[in-house]
Amino acid sequence: MADGAKIVVDHASKLFLEGTVVAFRNLELSVRTNEILSIVGPSGCGKTTLLRCIGGLLAPSSGRILIDGRAVDRPRAGVAIVFQHFGLLPWKTVAGNVAFGLKVAGAPRRLLEERAGRYIDLVGLGGFGSSASAWRARSPPTPKSS
Ligand SMILES: Nc1ncnc2c1ncn2[C@@H]1O[C@H](COP(=O)(O)OP(=O)(O)OP(=O)(O)O)[C@@H](O)[C@H]1O
Ligand SMILES: [Mg+2]
Repeated sequence: MADGAKIVVDHASKLFLEGTVVAFRNLELSVRTNEILSIVGPSGCGKTTLLRCIGGLLAPSSGRILIDGRAVDRPRAGVAIVFQHFGLLPWKTVAGNVAFGLKVAGAPRRLLEERAGRYIDLVGLGGFGSSASAWRARSPPTPKSS
């Protein structure tokens, strides 16, 4: 195991359905601070499952995963996953979606507004904070019942 690594996957395996499906087996991996790592492989080879295990959303079947030397046993502050498929909450505005994580973490309203505004501006969507999220905006209008 590499000394001082930020993320260590230490002989970890993840099996599903009583071991009939192997997402990954006996995997060893270490990632240094500020290192950028791409995980590439065919569909179903276990990329997302590995990320979920590193993020604490799934527990490995065996082996260990460490971040900053501490075993991952749950999601923790400072570790984030951007999911493969979009994950908007369609009933919330753009700003409501951007601020959702901080709101769940209990941040005060002033901070939510300041941070959401800053990141919406950063991606060139300034002025759209109170708009419906993309999913809802693209949906066809609900037919009126007769
Ligand atoms: N909850 C689950 N229950 C059973 N099998 C699962 C579960 N989650 C993933 N698998 C299986 O584990 C294997 C790895 O899946 P995973 O989603 O990690 O692959 P992937 O490399 O991310 O694929 P893709 O490139 O299509 O996103 C696949 O065979 C998948 O069907
Ligand atoms: Mg995937």
